[in-house]
Amino acid sequence: MSPPVAHRASSVEPTVISEGRSLRVLRPRRAAPEAAVRPTRAEIDLSALRHNLRAIRRAAGQARVWSVLKADAYGHGAPAVARTLERAGVDGVAVALLEEGVELRSAGIRAPILVMGGYYGDAYEELLASDLVPVVYHEGHFDGLARATRTRGLSERVSVHIKVDTGMGRLGVSIDELPRLLDYAAGFPQITVDGLMTHFACADVAGDDGDASLAEQMAVFERAQAIVRAYGLAPRYVHAANSAALLRAGFDARLAAVRPGIALFGVAPLASEHRAPIDLHQTLKLRSEIVALRTVEEGAGIGYGSTWRAPRRSVIATVPFGYADGLPRSISERSADPARGRGEVIVRGKRAPIVGVLSMDLATIDVTDIAGARLRDEVVALGHQRGPLGESTITIEELARTAGLIPWDVMTSISRRVPRFYREP
Ligand SMILES: Cc1ncc(COP(=O)(O)O)c(C=O)c1O
Repeated sequence: MSPPVAHRASSVEPTVISEGRSLRVLRPRRAAPEAAVRPTRAEIDLSALRHNLRAIRRAAGQARVWSVLKADAYGHGAPAVARTLERAGVDGVAVALLEEGVELRSAGIRAPILVMGGYYGDAYEELLASDLVPVVYHEGHFDGLARATRTRGLSERVSVHIKVDTGMGRLGVSIDELPRLLDYAAGFPQITVDGLMTHFACADVAGDDGDASLAEQMAVFERAQAIVRAYGLAPRYVHAANSAALLRAGFDARLAAVRPGIALFGVAPLASEHRAPIDLHQTLKLRSEIVALRTVEEGAGIGYGSTWRAPRRSVIATVPFGYADGLPRSISERSADPARGRGEVIVRGKRAPIVGVLSMDLATIDVTDIAGARLRDEVVALGHQRGPLGESTITIEELARTAGLIPWDVMTSISRRVPRFYREP
């Protein structure tokens, strides 16, 4: 049997982080900064991340903060983000997948890690080996954990959080089935119910519809808490709030812990009039450089399908990022104004339109009005740039709106061939 292999993240082979039984958990491969030749990269501002954690802590009051770092910390790179938050004193980390939890443990994260997805296959031993806290909601979860504790030694104890479906209709035990699950759980003295959680469907739906849905779900969750107490259980962590529920004006779902994800990365769901004031800073910048420049005559077609034709003699810059890097192709579709694509980037501190459709690896932008544009100028698709012509910021919300997406989608779509650079400005 070969020992576990630990390649660097830039390795050509996927990293094997568990091997020996039938299971091999593979760490996703990403481009690493040292492998970067192309000038395209995502820059993550770690001081903005710490700032956001402080702001969230203030909003959370007495509640513990469990940072949701699933999907590679919303595309930011989970190990580096978790390390930063852990040093800044975050109370715990929540991920969706067992694999994501294992990745963080093997990166040296010591904070409690909650695995929320609930699909553990036959890998319950892996949960225990990595000291992860599973979210559970059916009897099979208890059976699997009990089997794993037996295999690993009778003294092994394990904490779980029970998830209750209070109206999201996705994962969790229903309030009607909860007593039966608790009866079943009582047969497993080695398993401690340390948490009780639910998830809101409409925390970011402004207005009465959102209010009504939240009130209904909270009422069901309160009944669930009463049922759990009636079984003599006192879970330390009762939690429900994602970013929107934490920040929503006139609503308090902080309980013992909160589970913000997107707010950590600087995006406040809900328009400002519907939420408590909070100052968040965007953590992500996506930038590249001009790698080609050409002057085209009026009427010249640009890009696949020649969907854009120069309305005048124009200067077109080519930038090496495209939809395979996670930029939504829909930002380059033509708007009502035939002279402009809808998406913009920032060059020399000034906005320039994306013209022609986005290719897999390349974007074309009209820099006719960008005085002095030249090769190697920085081009920002997301984030802030100051330059000789001014300064501007493209927020994740703006890019999402332009593309007809949600901010979560934009963040998590930045693909793994884009190396992440971590900045401490
Ligand atoms: C169960 C659960 N809790 C918390 C979060 C964090 O949500 P947000 O990023 O909106 O703060 C998510 C993300 O979708 C989730 O699935």
